[in-house]
Amino acid sequence: MAAAADQIEIEVHLPEGGTWAGMVEDVREGLSCPFKEIPPKYFYDERGSALFEAITELPEYYPTRAERAILDAEAVEIVAAARPTTLIELGSGAAAKTRCLLEAMSAAGTLETYVPVDISEEITRRVADELVGEYDDLRVHGVICDYETHLERVPREEGALIAFLGGTIGNFRPGPRRSFLARIATLMYPGDRFLLGTDLVKGQGVLEAAYNDSAGITAEFNRNVLSVLNRELEADFEPEQFEHVAFWDADNEWIDIRLRSLTEQFSDVTALDMRVHFSRNEEMRTEVSTKFTRERLESSYADAGLELTDWWTDPEELYALSLARPVA
Ligand code: TRP
Repeated sequence: MAAAADQIEIEVHLPEGGTWAGMVEDVREGLSCPFKEIPPKYFYDERGSALFEAITELPEYYPTRAERAILDAEAVEIVAAARPTTLIELGSGAAAKTRCLLEAMSAAGTLETYVPVDISEEITRRVADELVGEYDDLRVHGVICDYETHLERVPREEGALIAFLGGTIGNFRPGPRRSFLARIATLMYPGDRFLLGTDLVKGQGVLEAAYNDSAGITAEFNRNVLSVLNRELEADFEPEQFEHVAFWDADNEWIDIRLRSLTEQFSDVTALDMRVHFSRNEEMRTEVSTKFTRERLESSYADAGLELTDWWTDPEELYALSLARPVA
């Protein structure tokens, strides 16, 4: 067995200013609009990540469990259909779900390389160390970057399964979603496959409960974005002066997630040299979470130059994993 150090390579492509670079411009733009918006990527500081972890364990929040159940049941099928030697995972994090796929690739005798793509160098290094301990000949080539801006930095060789799990594609608006999928298609060799996790359209009650849990953890998570802004941008938002709102928008087929100002108030954002006014009951959007039907996903793929080849759901059809290939 090679020394573990030879099996691991980690490239870092973070912008100057690190993980939170770009925040100043993003937040300035979002707070300057008549309908205010905070980009969702700022939810995930340490507390936000822990709260999201807690959300995934809530009885009402089914997507994580449903995705996990599909991976557990179908990883062997997925690997048989895609025949990958490399697994590239966009937003790999702690790589909890990845193991099923790596295990199936290992069992099929095709596993060579894992390419985790994530903004956290610390977590990615830890995962890399663990995995080379578990798989003797595995090479881990981590890429630390924002996969939205640095997708083209991901090393490419034919025979890859590019996985984008967790339903995160639903957090893109239609325009950025189309261009993101199109960029993925451009990066793919004919023999590569794209594995995507998507939450599915279903009854309004189930959908809304998943984003309005009775323990109030989702509300805490949503308000936490204001604490992130307070710390990173020297702002003075009062999170307890905002209430969590999440509802099903049937026209857009997304859950619309907002913070509603409980009073008329002003917040100073020192790093932006900005004073933000909220009227009473004014709502500010923090995220959308789009839900898909198979038809809608097929048409999203087609717009991007991809073609759906396989589709797996959990028994209740809450969630889907699909495989796509570039259209020749
Ligand atoms: N990406 C997750 C989703 O769309 C994030 C999420 C779950 C979320 N609950 C939330 C984001 C509440 C904001 C508020 O399901």
